[in-house]
Order: sequence, then structure tokens, then C-alpha cells
Amino acid sequence: MQATFKIQRYNPEKDKKPYWAEYTLEVDAKDRILDILHKIKWEMDGSLSFRRSCAHGICGSDAMMINGKNRLACKVLMMDLGTTTVTVEAIRGLPVEKDLIVDMKPFFDSYEAVMPYFIGDAVPPATEYIQSHAEEKIIDASTKCILCACCTTSCPIFWVNGQYLGPAAIVQAHRFIFDSRDRAGAQRLEILNQTTGVWRCRTAYNCTEACPRDIPITEIIGQVKRALMYGTA
Ligand code: SF4
Ligand code: F3S
Ligand code: FES
Repeated sequence: MQATFKIQRYNPEKDKKPYWAEYTLEVDAKDRILDILHKIKWEMDGSLSFRRSCAHGICGSDAMMINGKNRLACKVLMMDLGTTTVTVEAIRGLPVEKDLIVDMKPFFDSYEAVMPYFIGDAVPPATEYIQSHAEEKIIDASTKCILCACCTTSCPIFWVNGQYLGPAAIVQAHRFIFDSRDRAGAQRLEILNQTTGVWRCRTAYNCTEACPRDIPITEIIGQVKRALMYGTA
């Protein structure tokens, strides 16, 4: 079948503002959007720029807005969209470097700000840290994050206030705050208690809907809020 792809293009070195470029081509219902973008780039317009790496929903590098929703291009099939007219834009709220490529530095700065690494006992155990299945279950969902930014860049609070750490950083903080083996949860909670932290969230749910890993992000943010209010999840 024939499909029309409207792709937002922008090269800050020569374009005054973003514009839409249109490409009409033969596609299969089972083609992934990433495959079609490759076809456009390799056969129609080599100047089209986008990030991708694994092509299997693992690296998180091909987040983009497809028909108005943040998704990973490698995880969406043509037939998932139910239309042959497809719009593709860069994710919102981060500076566009070129076409579908955004500057991820502000996103990763927020990630770093929540200390997303394990901090154990001053004197580690002689063998390994022990964690029960029940304890692991509490952080199981948040360990699945691939840092794709689909959530943070779909959040209306982040769009209007880039200072908000955003849902991805909160998910990453949750992964360690609620890890029974970690000892720096209180420090991370203090970071999330600041004006840039969890209280900015207005439970818009866009983040949860956008997450390609089906992480219950809004619920996770709620757990962090409850930990701050009552000292418990
Ligand atoms: Fe992506 Fe989900 Fe992680 Fe957000 S929580 S960065 S949407 S994987
Ligand atoms: Fe934003 Fe998600 Fe909260 S979209 S407002 S972080 S529920
Ligand atoms: Fe790696 Fe899509 S290319 S997640």
C-alpha cells in the first residue's frame, strides 16, 4: 500500500524555522516506522536525520512523536497506526539539533541529579547483598527503564518548566530509593522534595501512556510522594 509520511525537518544551520517535508512511498502493513524512515533516508532523501541503534526496543534512542504520540519508531508497525498518513516529529521540550534528533543533555542532567547509582554500606558485606523476591518486586518496574525520554518529553509540566526533573529521573530515583540494599534513599528523597522534584507532577498521566516499557510511572511518582509525606511507600 502507499503511505504518506509528513516529517518535521529542521537544520538550525540553514533553516529559519522547522517545516514539514512529505514523502509518499510503498510500505507494508508489517513495516516498522523505523524501517520506513530508513527507506526514506536511504532511497529518497539522505539528509533526513534521526537516531537509532538497537532496532529492538532496548537502547531507547529512537523516541519520536508519531501521529501525535511519543513512541519508539522501532516498536511501532504501520498497521498499529490504522492510517496511511503518518506524521513524525521530534520529541518535545528538548532543543532540536537536526530533524528528529534532540539535545538529550538536559534530560541526562536531570538523570544524574538523582544519583542513579547504588550506594551501599560503608563496610560492604563479606559476600553479596541479599534481597528477597518481595523486596525486588517493589523496584522491578522501575529497573525496566531504558532512558528513552518518551515520558519526560510528553509531560506538559516539563514543556513549560524545563527545571522539572521529570518522570524519567523520578523513575530512576525510585529504583534506588526503594532498593532494600541501598543506603542513600533519604538523600534522593531530599532531592525530589525540592521545587524541581515530584511536587511539580500534576498526575497528567501522559508519561504512563507514553512509556514503551509499560512502567506505571504515575503510580511510581505517587509512591515517592507518599514516602515524602508519610515516610512510607
Ligand atoms: Fe522511557 Fe519509560 Fe524510562 Fe520514561 S520510564 S525513560 S518512557 S522507559
Ligand atoms: Fe507529567 Fe506524568 Fe506527572 S505526565 S504531570 S509526570 S503524571
Ligand atoms: Fe533502540 Fe528503537 S532503536 S529502542
